[in-house]
Amino acid sequence: MRRSVVAILTVVAIGLLGAIQGFSSAGSKTDMCVPMGAIALKAPEGVQSQRSAVEFPHARHFDVACITCHHTWGRTEPIASCMTSGCHDVAELPKRKPGEPADRDAAVMYFKNAFHKSCIGCHKDMKAKALAQQKSLKTPARPPAKSGPTSCLECHPK
Ligand code: HEC
Ligand code: HEC
Ligand code: HEC
Repeated sequence: MRRSVVAILTVVAIGLLGAIQGFSSAGSKTDMCVPMGAIALKAPEGVQSQRSAVEFPHARHFDVACITCHHTWGRTEPIASCMTSGCHDVAELPKRKPGEPADRDAAVMYFKNAFHKSCIGCHKDMKAKALAQQKSLKTPARPPAKSGPTSCLECHPK
């Protein structure tokens, strides 16, 4: 009886210690909270969306280096959102000035271009590579390497 009380108290004490540690590190500049499930990606505030939000399975992408997507990350600070002010937060495609070539740097600040370029770009590349590899093999691998969706409705169900 006594032993089990001591055991319970020990468990409670360890739990409390853990909670205190958790509190003191929350909001710290060296710890980062990584979303594991699906992240709902939607247009920035103020945009009248034509399509439904995109369910992005974050952890399904962890075979890819974090820095591939989080390309401005310095590896010392917590990762910021793609639509952080000054990044891909522009709500409309910037107008091209007459007689001047399209400003590609400005165009990719437009959130839709950034996401389509990164998401669809990689999925198309992977699909092409998987097909090429499949063709080059004497005995094609079954199933072929996985790649992500490339058609509108697979990402935007509506
Ligand atoms: C295939 C692209 C991709 C890869 C690879 C990726 N992420 Fe992400 N991550 C995203 C996107 C997209 C978001 C959502 C950002 C937003 O809401 O603007 C996100 C969000 C995050 C956030 C939350 C940022 C916030 O909004 O506060 C963290 C933290 C994060 N990722 C960490 C990581 C880590 C660590 C890795 C590597 C293990 C990683 N990510 C790999 C695309 C990726
Ligand atoms: C650098 C490459 C890369 C980038 C960038 C990338 N993906 Fe993917 N994605 C993949 C690969 C590889 C898979 C297949 C993973 C698997 O099924 O194991 C995948 C799978 C998916 C799937 C399907 C998961 C399932 O259930 O079958 C969705 C949805 C998806 N990606 C959405 C996105 C979105 C949205 C973005 C942009 C924010 C994005 N991806 C960016 C490589 C990428
Ligand atoms: C790999 C996933 C993926 C595919 C495929 C994809 N999109 Fe998107 N799209 C996104 C993401 C992520 C965003 C940014 C978040 C948001 O607005 O939902 C976006 C944004 C948009 C936007 C701007 C926001 C809005 O809803 O008005 C439009 C329009 C759009 N997509 C249309 C399309 C069309 C049309 C296709 C097919 C030609 C397509 N998308 C294919 C992922 C995808």
